[in-house]
Amino acid sequence: MIDQFGRNIDYMRLSLTERCNLRCQYCMPQGARREAEEDVLRYEELLRVCTAAAALGITRFKLTGGEPLVRPGCAAFAKSLKALPGVEQVTLTTNGLLLGEKLDALAAAGLDGVNISLDTLDADKYRAITGSRVFTPAEIFKLLGDCCARGIKTKLNCVLLPENREEAVSLAAIAQQLPVDVRFIELMPIGFGGALEHIDPDAVLDSLRQRWTDLHPTAEKRGNGPAVYYASEQLRGRVGFIDAVSHRFCESCNRVRLTSGGRLKPCLCYADTLDLKALLRGGCTEGELLAALRKAIYEKPRAHCFERRGEITESRLMGEIGG
Ligand code: GTP
Ligand code: 5AD
Ligand code: SF4
Repeated sequence: MIDQFGRNIDYMRLSLTERCNLRCQYCMPQGARREAEEDVLRYEELLRVCTAAAALGITRFKLTGGEPLVRPGCAAFAKSLKALPGVEQVTLTTNGLLLGEKLDALAAAGLDGVNISLDTLDADKYRAITGSRVFTPAEIFKLLGDCCARGIKTKLNCVLLPENREEAVSLAAIAQQLPVDVRFIELMPIGFGGALEHIDPDAVLDSLRQRWTDLHPTAEKRGNGPAVYYASEQLRGRVGFIDAVSHRFCESCNRVRLTSGGRLKPCLCYADTLDLKALLRGGCTEGELLAALRKAIYEKPRAHCFERRGEITESRLMGEIGG
């Protein structure tokens, strides 16, 4: 549906849980708050919201978290979601730890795409950034190949940090080996991200241009998110940049978020939400649900205010919001 600023909102990010099996420095280094089971929207409730959202023209859904795969039943939910009238695409963003064991079920559910987070190729740095004791970048590399082999559109997400600024060329080279899009994400001042050193994505792009001299912007549509993509004859995948702070993309924003606690969140930057869980559990009719969703989406704010930190009203962590 079209919002008050004429943007077509057709993409919803669904957080299935705040919990996560990693402790990324910029996200939730001490882990998530304890989430009471009754506070989390049940799958039936989520499907009810998605049915209403699809009726309003939201055709694409992203499963996020926390880490979505720590919630049991994720693949079966993806399958039910894909079967709803009007749903065209269901994709997943994951840290990969549980992906190996769930990939067959997810592929069978018809999952359209997987974005896997990997901030470094160095096992020691990976441990320092994510807190992981057992998982390694080599395992993620194997998963990328496994996803591609199943015909799932596959991307890699790398948040730009002081620890990986020298690794950008090596990480982007994954797009040379595999048909994977490698995306560099500018650190956002949400949660712990606000306290870490910011790396300039344009300097990273320059370093990639020195390695792949024909690197050029491409207008191809590679997903539903805000990434800007670059292509080279030598790369099978693309290189992408998600520069939420330095190259604001709010004019073309097409998305809303649903937190695992059932709050519809129209913009990442602001604390304002619509409490859909209260509506659902208060016995609302389909008409009331549709009307509430329509109003909240219509009133989505014009833009974030990351550059004026005092005006950011969101105080929750990135993993609590849904990435
Ligand atoms: P596809 O393009 O469909 O692959 O998905 P995506 O890029 O939307 O998904 P993903 O979950 O991989 O998100 C990548 C990064 O983009 C994360 O760091 C998100 O927080 C960020 N992102 C997604 N939407 C927004 C947004 O509306 N505003 C800001 N500032 N960042 C966003
Ligand atoms: N800034 C930018 N990206 C972040 N992510 C988590 N926290 C932040 C932040 N403060 C990323 C994760 C993952 C995606 C869903 O969001 O690394 O790739
Ligand atoms: Fe977990 Fe993702 Fe946050 Fe890392 S960035 S702690 S993997 S939710």
